[in-house]
Amino acid sequence: MAKGFISSSQLDNITAKLDIAEVISEYVALKKSGKNFKALCPFHEEKTPSFVVNPEKQIFHCFGCGIGGNAIKFLMLVENISFPQAAALAAKKAGISIDISGYRPEDEEKQEKLIKANEFASQCYQEALFSQQGKRAAEYLSGRNLTEKEISRFSIGFAPNMRDCLLKKISEEKLDKDSFIKAGLINGEGTSDVFRNRIMFPIFDFRGKITGFGGRALDDEHMPKYLNTGENAVFSKGKLLYGLNWAKQAVKEKDFVFIVEGYFDVIRMHINGIENCVAPMGTSLTDMHLRFLKRFTEKILLVFDSDEAGIRASLRNLESVVSKGFETKISMLPAGFDPDRFIDEYGIDAFRKMMEKSVDFLDFVLSIESQRHDINTPKGKSSVAREIMRIISAIPDEIEKTEYIKILSKKLGLKESVIENYLHYTAQEPGSSIKPENKISSPDTYAESLLLEILLSGGEYWTPFLEWNGYLSRRMEIVARTSKELLMNNIDITPANLISNVDEDTGRWISGTSLKETVRENGRKQQIFQDCLKKIHKSCISRQVDEIKKTINEKKDTGIPYNDEVEKIQGLLFELKKE
Ligand code: UTP
Ligand code: MN
Repeated sequence: MAKGFISSSQLDNITAKLDIAEVISEYVALKKSGKNFKALCPFHEEKTPSFVVNPEKQIFHCFGCGIGGNAIKFLMLVENISFPQAAALAAKKAGISIDISGYRPEDEEKQEKLIKANEFASQCYQEALFSQQGKRAAEYLSGRNLTEKEISRFSIGFAPNMRDCLLKKISEEKLDKDSFIKAGLINGEGTSDVFRNRIMFPIFDFRGKITGFGGRALDDEHMPKYLNTGENAVFSKGKLLYGLNWAKQAVKEKDFVFIVEGYFDVIRMHINGIENCVAPMGTSLTDMHLRFLKRFTEKILLVFDSDEAGIRASLRNLESVVSKGFETKISMLPAGFDPDRFIDEYGIDAFRKMMEKSVDFLDFVLSIESQRHDINTPKGKSSVAREIMRIISAIPDEIEKTEYIKILSKKLGLKESVIENYLHYTAQEPGSSIKPENKISSPDTYAESLLLEILLSGGEYWTPFLEWNGYLSRRMEIVARTSKELLMNNIDITPANLISNVDEDTGRWISGTSLKETVRENGRKQQIFQDCLKKIHKSCISRQVDEIKKTINEKKDTGIPYNDEVEKIQGLLFELKKE
């Protein structure tokens, strides 16, 4: 989580004086349930409440969608505001005046200025498109089958091929040049327009405010093909999805969202009545995109061109989508076609038919991987299983995960128990005192959570934990680092304080884990604690060994020497044997 300029102790102060139940009850109807409160989760659709608020620990967690955190996190999500904004809001609610140098109300004013600049520029670009200067651009758009009405509907414009087209208008209107510079419309020196000779697609935030532009070169040899606004206070590619302002209602109604690649695709689909459709802008789907979409639906249909690049892009997105718990389908268009081109050539009915043939992500990966490897050879089958299990491992819901393992085992003609070994982590050793609750849950994930639970259950385990010098898993590393920081700042290590200082996923993990209460027998805690640490240590080593083995195999295949790798493996295996 980006903390901005807020110190940990200021945060600690805010969260300490705030009652999370009070904060959340402003937005959600909370019902008392034991020492917790329960509610229908405001971040995903559900019929039975799995959203839990724990006033004692000052955290919330949804056991349905996995979202969780402290009061500030809740405000960020529900208000869709940045961390400093949420912290300021929280401070206000707590009735304390606190110096949060990362957030000032002027920040909002500044953002408003950038939006104003963008809106002014968009007007200019739209006028230019329909003027003499925009003749070629208008012809181009009409050549791509867009009518004037459609062009206006999406506020498409044109930045003429001049150094100072926008600049002149700014000085004519006596506007503040600075906002235009900050909005990325005028260069840093204030001497020329940034966008020239480009068709301008305004990019709106979900509320419909113009945050930036994607400018398409009019001539194909002009690079880049699309020039996007640079990152600034209101424009961030990792957060914005093109089309969401027009799509959000339809996404809710249809309860799924089409994810396509480009501006033209979104527009073409909207024009043809498919309004539940958005596109990231030349990037992969980020956690922020997905978290935001979760507010509207839990189902995603990824639409891609079936050329190599399209497939690579969809595979890249697949894992993040699946790991965020979306029900994920894929639709491939013939090579060389994107939705825009397909609809243009074959019509919307043909497109809808294609979309009906969308396949579950598992079938998609299976068919891609079977093309890459010969599934009839043992080695090939093993590679395919491994690749697919990598994605299945990412599914957060254990039942779903189990079901997918069942389906995959049928499809590959392998025993489930065999495939389970490909779950992202190495298998449980016999004789350990840790009994997984669920045998599908990968053992060191289980060990990690159990360890965290023990750490959070009382203060006494933090010191031995922080003194431990074996390997730690990625998440445990984060917890170790963060708790050290808290200690150095004299701040209590509580779930809420940890969550304030870690990334989104780790935060959810902490909120979920701290609400579990499985470790009750104090007598065995010490033993379990030790076992967990060892277990995690060993899994980390095994995973490294696996990685190096892969490298060795690759090097073997290409005839590159791999002595270093062998040495490394020997060292690791030696450590693995050590007690
Ligand atoms: P494409 O190259 O597939 O373009 O990039 P497109 O949208 O189909 O455009 P046309 O139909 O050729 O005119 C897909 C998306 O990737 C982003 C844009 O958002 C684009 O719509 N992109 C692409 C960039 O941001 N920069 C680039 O240079 C290229
Ligand atoms: Mn296209």
